[in-house]
Amino acid sequence: MAGQLAAVSPRPVNVVHTCAACPLENEGGDVYVARAMTTESRRILQRDDQTVRAAVDAYTSLHDEQSGGDLEARKANYEVLVNRYYDLVTDFYEFGWGKSFHFAPAKNGESFEDAIVRHEVKLAQALKLDSGMTALDVGCGVGGPMRNIARYSGAKVVGINNNDYQIERGRRHSGREGMQHRTSFVKADFMQMPFEDGTFDGVYTIEASCHAPDKAALFREIRRVMKPGAIFAGYEWCLTDKYVADDAEHRRIKKGIEEGDGLPDIAYTHEVDDALREAGFEVVAARDVAPEADPEGPWYLPLSGRDKSLRGLPRTPIGRQITNVATRVMERLKLAPEGTARVSDFLNVAGDALVAGGETGVFTPMYYFEARKV
Ligand SMILES: C[S@@+](CC[C@H](N)C(=O)[O-])C[C@H]1O[C@@H](n2cnc3c(N)ncnc32)[C@H](O)[C@@H]1O
Repeated sequence: MAGQLAAVSPRPVNVVHTCAACPLENEGGDVYVARAMTTESRRILQRDDQTVRAAVDAYTSLHDEQSGGDLEARKANYEVLVNRYYDLVTDFYEFGWGKSFHFAPAKNGESFEDAIVRHEVKLAQALKLDSGMTALDVGCGVGGPMRNIARYSGAKVVGINNNDYQIERGRRHSGREGMQHRTSFVKADFMQMPFEDGTFDGVYTIEASCHAPDKAALFREIRRVMKPGAIFAGYEWCLTDKYVADDAEHRRIKKGIEEGDGLPDIAYTHEVDDALREAGFEVVAARDVAPEADPEGPWYLPLSGRDKSLRGLPRTPIGRQITNVATRVMERLKLAPEGTARVSDFLNVAGDALVAGGETGVFTPMYYFEARKV
């Protein structure tokens, strides 16, 4: 397995790209396919066919039990699993989701974008961030939350991320938004962070600690880099108490989410509390915030097809299907590297599994916790 993975080039593979100059994120879904086909194809043409195919093979084999892709293999290869995953999907995420790669429960009739920002600001408030303070974002993606939190609070935010391609994108976005002095990116594994003990005034993480092979070990490492009395808050992907391991449908949902989202495994909510305490934190608050959404604004709405806005189209089943067909056509025409459509396939499986997880209530991507370094 390791040999097979090592044979894959570490170069990021930009499967379907929305470039910095492309205003796709701000446009209605009615134009997105046509724009994507022209703007992205220029970059895709420069990609190496074999690199994409090999990366997809390496990623999917970690989830394929026939090829030895069991839980232990995924945990042992977590860096490869996660990096391959984000090399492949970052452009799809930016295309369909924006620059903050997380869910949010919509309240009081908020738009998708407003709910995303409120979800992030809640963390800044929990950390009591202010100007003169520095926070750490663990698993920062392309930095959407960092920039919003820095703007809201006046604090500086350092983001740690193990994915080179996302860091490159994040630095570019911060520069374009004039936030390069308030936000910075560090390329490192969050299981071993290159920071001195007691560096940060607060730490947060959004839907990233689910990638850790050992949650208590990650939380210990986070606690180490915090100042005494500081707060660590975050949103974690979890199974709820409604998840029944003997139920075949529940297992199918869990597997679809793991495979489609680059996860080694998914923990129960109470396991997150246990891991925080094991790491030495005092747990100040812990609850699933998914039920706090308006009945018509659950977190999985954008993926479910019930979001009727044009901007939401790329996220819906039909929008995802259009993207899927477009990637297949581009592959056929040799405009996209071989393997592109398979990425779109597993993202669609993930999208459907996430909606099923939300509708049945067996899964939440927003188990909120607040913990103090005592
Ligand atoms: C779902 S994304 C969330 C990104 C960001 N928090 C946001 O909400 O936009 C998960 C992030 O965790 C990062 N990540 C996963 N495992 C990591 C590790 N071992 N070390 C550092 N970053 C990691 C990924 O590269 C990705 O940026």
